[in-house]
Amino acid sequence: MADLDNLKDTKDYHFDIPARNEAFFLKGAGALDWGMQNRLARIFNPRSGRTVMLAIDHGYFLGPTSGLERIDVNIVPLLPYCDALMLTRGILRTTVPPAFKHGVVMRATGGPSIRKELSNELLAVGMEDALRMNVSAMAVQVYIGGEYETQTVNNMTRMVDMGNRYGMPTLGVTAVGKDMVRDAQYFRLATRICAELGAQFVKTYHVAEGFETVTASCPVPIVMAGGKKLPAIDALTMAYRAVSEGAAGVDMGRNIFQSEAPVAMIQAVQKVVHELMKPEHAFELYRTLKEEQKATVVA
Ligand code: 5RP
Repeated sequence: MADLDNLKDTKDYHFDIPARNEAFFLKGAGALDWGMQNRLARIFNPRSGRTVMLAIDHGYFLGPTSGLERIDVNIVPLLPYCDALMLTRGILRTTVPPAFKHGVVMRATGGPSIRKELSNELLAVGMEDALRMNVSAMAVQVYIGGEYETQTVNNMTRMVDMGNRYGMPTLGVTAVGKDMVRDAQYFRLATRICAELGAQFVKTYHVAEGFETVTASCPVPIVMAGGKKLPAIDALTMAYRAVSEGAAGVDMGRNIFQSEAPVAMIQAVQKVVHELMKPEHAFELYRTLKEEQKATVVA
């Protein structure tokens, strides 16, 4: 019990300073509960309002994807440079050091491998286990227009209900099936459905024409999906365009971990996303860091 002797009797209530009542910094998140906002603030940097998520969840349907054969060797050195890590619970528990302090976005759906119909996914992680792992958000893939559209939308809405109960945000991931057209009209539809049905943020692809209409018509933050490996300058340009056109950051996988110099690449992406560094300058930075890191390895 606190010592009751010699209690100070002068108190300063700062009558001249109005109580602070600041709006939460993320789009569409002002009315969320404290726990949900706190989790989102572990993913999005409150200074820039944006995030660099590193996606390494590919193994859940692809097995040991190139660049992810040894996550302990190839990915752990990148962890200090990401704002959040998107992955499966198997990799989190086996390979990610528990001292990792940034956001964890848990891939929460799965089922079919690349040998089957990909949209036939179900929820693959329970809320209790997610809380045990101290994750910051649950990622649920939604196949709008896909064969199992309703089932995947239902996966997401069930997760949203559980998340609202426990203060856990849901990331709606707009998946594009093999034959679907990737254009602004499709992504406006898919992202808006995710937000309308309760996702607190949405992951979607960048499109060359009209991406700003996708971000404008979605009432929650959008993070840009990386997609297939591109030359570094093109990947940096795509990230720059996405954030300039309203994305609240990126969730990139192959364009970082399949890069010739992943540590340099993720640092360049950080500059683009948080400081809006122009892609040509970020590419220069990438090349400089790549040479420096090569020299350190040789020395
Ligand atoms: C698909 C996913 C992925 O599994 C993964 O995150 C993709 O990353 P990238 O395309 O940047 O390699 O979420 O939607």
